[in-house]
Amino acid sequence: MQKILFATGNINKVIEVRKVLAHLPYEIISLKDLGIDYDIPETGGTLEENATIKSKYLAERYPDYHIISEDTGLEIDALDGAPGVITARYGGPEKDAIQNMNKVLAELSNKEDRSGQFRTIISHIYQGVETQHEGIVRGRMAKELSGNNGFGYDPIFIPEGYEKSFANLGDDVKKSMSHRSRAVTKLVESLE
Ligand code: IMP
Repeated sequence: MQKILFATGNINKVIEVRKVLAHLPYEIISLKDLGIDYDIPETGGTLEENATIKSKYLAERYPDYHIISEDTGLEIDALDGAPGVITARYGGPEKDAIQNMNKVLAELSNKEDRSGQFRTIISHIYQGVETQHEGIVRGRMAKELSGNNGFGYDPIFIPEGYEKSFANLGDDVKKSMSHRSRAVTKLVESLE
């Protein structure tokens, strides 16, 4: 088993990545498993910069391990790619999923075009060398929240090819085609 340290405090991300890697010889160790119970500050101006900041943080402390981190943004076409890098705090200073989704719904209330995408950047560092892997899923924003699975904006995101939100569709659909799964699949290809 190859150990991979995952620089995230978000247990939902850890669960999703573990699911994608379940049949492969990789063991994901989270920040929590390392006794780190705070978020690494995301001070970058892009998803790419934030992913690098987080993976470098762990790489400096655990130089012998494979390190990964990821940063995800919701990019809405009619809002010129917003919320983008500020996706986590779109609705206010707290990371509040309901406030965030309500802000998106309010911003789109007078717009025809509700299309957009989730974009994930995974940063991988091993022996001082970084690679990045992008995963995108296109879709559209629902008119209201629905469903209890997943996390974050899943109750308002309807992925392309479906009529229900990620939060309705559940874990197996997310595993098969989400932004995060696609980025992890590219990472695995590069590790192999
Ligand atoms: P971060 O990558 O942890 O900074 O997350 C940015 C924001 O996107 C947070 O509000 C997350 O809740 C949200 N987010 C990240 N991944 C997903 C996802 O897979 N589904 C829905 N929302 C997500």
